[in-house]
Amino acid sequence: MAREPLDPSPERMRELGYAVVDWLVAQAAALDAAPVANLAALDVLAADVEEQLPAHPSSLTNTLEFLEQRILPRMTRTNHPRFHAYVPGPGSYYGSLGAFIAAALNPFAGSSLGGASFAALELLTLRWVAETVGYPVTAEGIFTSGGSMANLGALAAARATLDDPSTAVVYVSDQGHTSMDKAATVLGFRSDQIVRLATNASFQVEPATVIDRCRMDRARGRRPLFLSANAGTTNTGTVDPLDALADVCETEGVWFHVDAAYGGFAALTERGRASLRGMERADSVTLDPHKWLYTPFGCGCVLVNRPGSLDRAFAAHGDYLKDVAQTEVNFFDRGPELTRPARALPVWMLMRSVGVDALRRQIDADLDLAELAERLLREEPDFEVVHRGLSIVTFRLVARRDESEEGRAAREERLVQTLLEGGDVLVSGTSLGGRSALRFVVLNHRTGEAEIRRSVAALRGAVRGLHDA
Ligand SMILES: Cc1ncc(COP(=O)(O)O)c(C=O)c1O
Repeated sequence: MAREPLDPSPERMRELGYAVVDWLVAQAAALDAAPVANLAALDVLAADVEEQLPAHPSSLTNTLEFLEQRILPRMTRTNHPRFHAYVPGPGSYYGSLGAFIAAALNPFAGSSLGGASFAALELLTLRWVAETVGYPVTAEGIFTSGGSMANLGALAAARATLDDPSTAVVYVSDQGHTSMDKAATVLGFRSDQIVRLATNASFQVEPATVIDRCRMDRARGRRPLFLSANAGTTNTGTVDPLDALADVCETEGVWFHVDAAYGGFAALTERGRASLRGMERADSVTLDPHKWLYTPFGCGCVLVNRPGSLDRAFAAHGDYLKDVAQTEVNFFDRGPELTRPARALPVWMLMRSVGVDALRRQIDADLDLAELAERLLREEPDFEVVHRGLSIVTFRLVARRDESEEGRAAREERLVQTLLEGGDVLVSGTSLGGRSALRFVVLNHRTGEAEIRRSVAALRGAVRGLHDA
C-alpha cells in the first residue's frame, strides 16, 4: 500500500506520527515559559526561514529542528495563557486532532457525493452548534474559514432576497467588525450603501437609531436590507440589545444578522444566554468556533434561519457536476467554495471528546477571570477601566499631571511595544470614542487566576517602567 516517498510505509507512518506528537507534547509543556511574542521585522523573519527550493528530501528530525530553531522562537503565541490581545486563538488538542484526521482522510466536503458521510457529519455538527447557542436547530448553515466569510455568507443570503439590490442599504454598528464592510464591498455594494450606525455611551446600537435611519433611507427611495448587530463586539465585547433590535427588524422588514463571532458561545452559560437573549430570533448568525469554542483556526460558521437562502445566493452548477444529486445538501451551494476541507471535524471532535458541559464550565471560568481582571485593573492607580463586555476589559492609562491626550496615547502605544519586546504578557490597543485605549481579553482554558494576577502585575511594572523612562 505504501507509495514512497509521498506515503511512507505503515511503520514509518507510525514513527513519523509519534515523533510529531512527542514534539507537540514538548511544545505544549513549554508554552507557559515561552514568550507570548518576540516580534521582528518581516525581512529579519524572512532571513530566518530562507532556504533554496529543496530538490532532495529532508528528514523529519531535521524539519522539526528547523521549526524549533528558526520558526518557534519568533512565533506569536495567540494560544499563550497570557495572550490577552486582539481575540485569542486558544485552540485545543482535541480540535487539532480533528483537523489532522480531516487532512489525513481528505474527504471532499464540497458536495453530498464527495463529502458523503462527512457531509452528514457537517449537518449534524451545525445542528449541535445551533443547539449550543440556543439558535433554531432547523437553521441551515455551513462551516467557513472564519467569521469574515460567515459574515459574507449572511449578507449574500440577504442580498439574494432582492431582485435589484442597487437601492439596498446595509447597516453596521460603528463598533461592528470590518469584515462586514469587506463583505459588502466584495458583494458589490457601493460605499454609500453601507451605513455605520452611531452607538451610545455603552457602545450599543439603540433601536431608535435603526428606526430613524430606516425611515430616512426609505424617504430617500432606499431599501433598508440588512442590520448587523453584535453579540460581543471585537473592541469591547459589547452585546447589542438583540431582542429589541429583532423587534425593529421585524417591523421594518430588515434582515436581522447577529455577528456573534467572538461572543456567541457565551450563550452556553446562564449569564451569557441572558445577555444574548434575542440572538435566537436572528435571520442569520455568525459564530467562530476557532475563538470561544477552542478549535484551531479555520473554523467559522454561519447559520441562517431562512430556508434556501444560502442556496439562492451561491448555487451554481457546472456540467462536470452532473452526477452530484441536486436534491441533497451540497455545501458548494451554500458558500463560494467548491473544494473545501471537512471543517466540521475539529468542531465535532472537540464537542464529542470533551462534552458540552465541560465547554460551558470553561466559558464560565473565562468570564469569571475577566471579572477578576477588571477588578484588579480597577485597583491599580495607573489604570482606569472603561468597560467590560463578556470577557473583554477595556481600560486606559490614567493621564499624568499636565499630560496631554496625545502624550497619554503615546504612552499606551509604548506600553504595548514594551510588552511585545518583553514577551511575558500581551494586550492590544484600540480607540474608543476617539480616544486611545487598551484591551485585555480572557479566552483561554490555559489561563487561570495566577496568570491574570501575573498579567496585571506585569502591566503595572511595564507602565511604571515607562514613567521612569
Ligand atoms: C465580532 C467579529 N466578527 C468577525 C470577525 C472576523 O472573524 P475571522 O477573523 O474569523 O474571519 C471577528 C474576528 O475577530 C470578530 O471579532
